[in-house]
Amino acid sequence: MPASLSEAAARAAELHRALHEHSYRYHVLHAPIITDGEYDKLFNELKALEADYPDLLTPDSPTQRVGSDLQSDMPKVEHVVPILSLGNAYDGDDIRAWRERIGRLLPENVRLEYVVEPKFDGLSVVLTYIDGVLTLAATRGNGEVGDDVTPNVRTIRTVPLRIPVASGGPIPPARLVVRGEVLFLKRDFESLNRRMADEDLPLFVNARNTASGALKQKDPRVTAQRPLTMYGYAIMDADGEVPATQWDTLHFLRNVGFLTADEAIRRFDDLEDVIAYALAFDVRRHDLPYEIDGLVIKVNDHATALDLGIVGKDPRGAVAYKFPAEEATTRLLDVVANVGRTGVLTPTAVLEPVFVSGVTVRQASLHNYDLIAQKDIHIGDTVIVKRSGEVIPYVVGPVIAARAGTECTITPPEVCPVCESAVARDEGEVAYYCTNPACPERVARNIEYFVSRGALDIEGLGERGVRLLLEQGLIRDEADLFTLTADQLMPLEGFAEKKVENLLSSIQAAKDRPLARLIGALGIRGVGVTVAELLVRHYHTVEALAVAAVEELETIAGMGPHTASAIVEWFAVPRNRALIEKFRAAGVRLIEEPVVDETASDVLDGLTFVLTGTLPNLQRNAAKALIEKHGGRVTGSVSKKTSYVVVGDEAGSKLEKAQELGVPLLDEAGLLVLMGETVDE
Ligand code: IVH
Repeated sequence: MPASLSEAAARAAELHRALHEHSYRYHVLHAPIITDGEYDKLFNELKALEADYPDLLTPDSPTQRVGSDLQSDMPKVEHVVPILSLGNAYDGDDIRAWRERIGRLLPENVRLEYVVEPKFDGLSVVLTYIDGVLTLAATRGNGEVGDDVTPNVRTIRTVPLRIPVASGGPIPPARLVVRGEVLFLKRDFESLNRRMADEDLPLFVNARNTASGALKQKDPRVTAQRPLTMYGYAIMDADGEVPATQWDTLHFLRNVGFLTADEAIRRFDDLEDVIAYALAFDVRRHDLPYEIDGLVIKVNDHATALDLGIVGKDPRGAVAYKFPAEEATTRLLDVVANVGRTGVLTPTAVLEPVFVSGVTVRQASLHNYDLIAQKDIHIGDTVIVKRSGEVIPYVVGPVIAARAGTECTITPPEVCPVCESAVARDEGEVAYYCTNPACPERVARNIEYFVSRGALDIEGLGERGVRLLLEQGLIRDEADLFTLTADQLMPLEGFAEKKVENLLSSIQAAKDRPLARLIGALGIRGVGVTVAELLVRHYHTVEALAVAAVEELETIAGMGPHTASAIVEWFAVPRNRALIEKFRAAGVRLIEEPVVDETASDVLDGLTFVLTGTLPNLQRNAAKALIEKHGGRVTGSVSKKTSYVVVGDEAGSKLEKAQELGVPLLDEAGLLVLMGETVDE
């Protein structure tokens, strides 16, 4: 808290200026330069300041305004009831404080039920149905007056034009006003951007702003091109009877034909359970098909919620629990190319340090140079950085509105930033790569990968150890690891006797790993352990693989032409052939005895299967493995070419499709008979 009134006044003035400007940029220019989370933070700071120094609260304060997203050139609609907003909570204590505040207004010891719903990161819409027919759709606007977006909303396929949608559904009151949220499903936003990329158009950065833009189009045909979705969550007003609780309201809305967030709605009667659920949801949010920025906790009983009244523009009967912000804006200072183990150059953003979802981020991924161009990112840009769950922080895109004109374009490097060798790119591939197999960074990265758990799993040796061994000249390639001695290791810092002993024995053990692990660890572009397994099944020895021709490699199912040539090119490099010879000399296993499965057959040769539903005994993977063992193929979708659809419990649309196309059906028992197999009960 500022020490004196004059300091507080200065800070409040600064916050006024900033908030007014950001609000104007957001609502009028449609070109915000900070994220919603950053705006909220400034807004909350001002609110707290005004609470501590009430003299600072002036009528022109941004906190005194009901947020408005009105667009000047659209027809207006007066809302029949004010469209309210929500108070925020950021942790368990805020939620408890909310409960205490409302507790003071309720009869003593009253037990409340709560409904917890996702807080959709979209736009509020208010839909009016007269005699079941959608007659009006409006945005929230300033809460009292909204924009009339009826023709646009009619293009949204999940908005029922008439309710109930299904015959037999509940008959709604003669007039029903429903509130919901318009948004992009994650997959729809991604496919919209894929379409933009295909047409060489600039990509959309922010799903919420894009949804807002789409909804406020003057031409509904443009809206129709944008795959929007709507979820319903409240009844605002009605002539006639409506459910008395939020829980029943959600079910009613679903039954008349609205999409509701069934997968994420829960009812509780204990606030601590609500809090535990809310705090844990931060992880689950990423599995939902839409973006949410928190959860809404609502008092279930509508009469109680209504009695609690309103503070400012927020009803007391509900509170929004907001997750820590995942996005922030910062400046892109530079872009450096990171050299990976296969030589691929990954552009990495050097950022002005910024605090995002609990950590300070200084670097972020830019994925690849094509994407930089598609997103039109420049050095010097203000960029949006996202850190979401376990994902490595990445640059979402530039804030074009914040451009000064002095930003510079980003070009892929012409030479490797580490060894200055030529950079190449395969036709049809996005990655640029360093062409020098002896590039020191490539070598170091590859050895790091070679010893890692996913590859040869040499315990006791990590990134730091590998770099140290390279610096000391004790190793120059992967094979040198196998001839290390205790005398060489003991003098190194951090290598005590016991550690050296353990390391040497795990190096010894690594000589006998399955061949696919070794091949997958060599650093051939496109060849990880999965592809290596295909290669081993086909060739059984490194010797045979080393002389394989591209044409032959390409015939292996699952092998692309780029990978096939990368393999041939890898074995053509003298340094790599020498490496294999060093492995051989050190006693590293280079062959894999083929395992002969006596029970395999080719009875299903040429047949394709689709699996749907839960089978009584076989897990999906086991069924697939069995079919493949007998020469059959398993695919994901039903077509006329499908030989059989194997149907289990709770089979879905694939079963319908099969019946439509007349594809023969099998149950588990039928499948087993076909293959001459039995299952162990
Ligand atoms: S209830 C009067 N439920 O969040 C009750 N709002 O921060 C207020 N929102 O303007 C709305 N998901 O646009 C409610 N499940 C949900 C919501 C939700 C998203 C939005 C809504 C509101 C904003 C308030």
